[in-house]
Amino acid sequence: NLKSMSDLVSLCKRRGFIFQSSEIYGGLGSCWDYAPYGIQLKNNVKESWWKAMTFREDVVGIDASIFMHPMVWKASGHVDGFSDPMVDCKSCKERYREDQIDTSKPCAKCGATDFTEPRDFNLMFNTQMGAVTDSSSTVYLRPETAQGIFVNFLNVQQTMRKKLPFGIAQIGKAFRNEITPGNFIFRTREFEQMEMQFFVKPGTQLDAMEKWKEVRWQWHIDNGLRAEKLRWEPHGPDSLAHYADAATDIEYEFPMGWGEMEGIHSRTDFDLKRHEEFSKKNLKYLDTEDGNKKYLPYVLETSVGCDRAVLALLCDAYRLENEGDKENERVVMKFHPKIAPIKVAVLPLVKKEKLDTPARKLFETIQKNYQAEYDVAGSIGKRYRRQDEIGTPLCVTFDFDTLDDNAVTVRDRDTMTQERVAIDQLDKYLRDKLGF
Ligand code: GAP
Repeated sequence: NLKSMSDLVSLCKRRGFIFQSSEIYGGLGSCWDYAPYGIQLKNNVKESWWKAMTFREDVVGIDASIFMHPMVWKASGHVDGFSDPMVDCKSCKERYREDQIDTSKPCAKCGATDFTEPRDFNLMFNTQMGAVTDSSSTVYLRPETAQGIFVNFLNVQQTMRKKLPFGIAQIGKAFRNEITPGNFIFRTREFEQMEMQFFVKPGTQLDAMEKWKEVRWQWHIDNGLRAEKLRWEPHGPDSLAHYADAATDIEYEFPMGWGEMEGIHSRTDFDLKRHEEFSKKNLKYLDTEDGNKKYLPYVLETSVGCDRAVLALLCDAYRLENEGDKENERVVMKFHPKIAPIKVAVLPLVKKEKLDTPARKLFETIQKNYQAEYDVAGSIGKRYRRQDEIGTPLCVTFDFDTLDDNAVTVRDRDTMTQERVAIDQLDKYLRDKLGF
């Protein structure tokens, strides 16, 4: 239903999901701040991922630091190879990725036709650690979270007494100095990844890949994404990363077209081998179940951008209903209840103390179990529309009859039907309707 990203950007601003970073200073290119409903939504996505990935026997979690020893990025290949070819317009200095521009045509910004030769532009941000500024104190902001897992592989395996196959999961920020960021939070320079590295016996990586492909596809469906908006995009030999022997992406159909949301990569033993080589430490696994053989495990990685998953959920939830019908037109965010930032809104019919005091009491009870909101401002119709736009599945209306019959009206976001429910049955009713 969402026709253009700008409709979503404006809803996100209007309703407190996502604001432009440093807006009072004119904003900072491609940097965004999650507003109260946005961060609640994002936290729900992270919680859903963490549960799906670590509430199981064969995966444990970690949280590695963003700064790592600079040698990590030498070993991983990022210092020498993590770059995009870039050309500059000689006149206005606009930068383009070489594969996104035809240099026989004029610059899109200023119309000049003179471009620099393509040169490699490393996407890693760097900064200085400590008070002394020399090249030895240069540290990088990690461009992927994965390396924090590789360098901790043996520590985790030994302390957790894990046998292959097992995985390590992590959620954290990553940074890339993208040449052409854009499409709202689709491509930014600071973003969050949810990654899991699954360590397996060499030779079994493709079986593990099939298994994890199923788990990861189902996660997106369980969050409420429509299956017809998802597709697999396998990598052919030309687009495989240097470390991979197989890879496929889960793509979502965003308003600007299909775009990668998650990558599932069979990374072989490339990373562990390189870290062994550069650190000169033995990172081999001792396989007590196979004649005490020592070897480097192979790795199956699942890597989803948290912000991209949030963007897909926002795009997917957005529905404009009864367009053009002034009375009945509404925008409604049809989030799955587990993803919705607010689960229940409590609305006294009018702003009168007689209603306000008991309604607030009811709200406080509901809030013990659910992220809930209390709203008394404005007409009931306007308050319903507002809750529709933030995707609240259920609105509980407290009216004058409630004072006599101890029942409330519960309005369903999607069907807009209203049901009268006794307050002493409300907890069970909400649990059944929300599904948890
Ligand atoms: N460890 C593997 C890795 O980082 P990737 O395909 O470069 O692989 C994984 O990134 C995921 O991270 C992507 O599928 C995407 O969802 C997210 N991602 C990558 N670059 C991003 C950016 N500039 N902005 C937002 N998300 C990004």
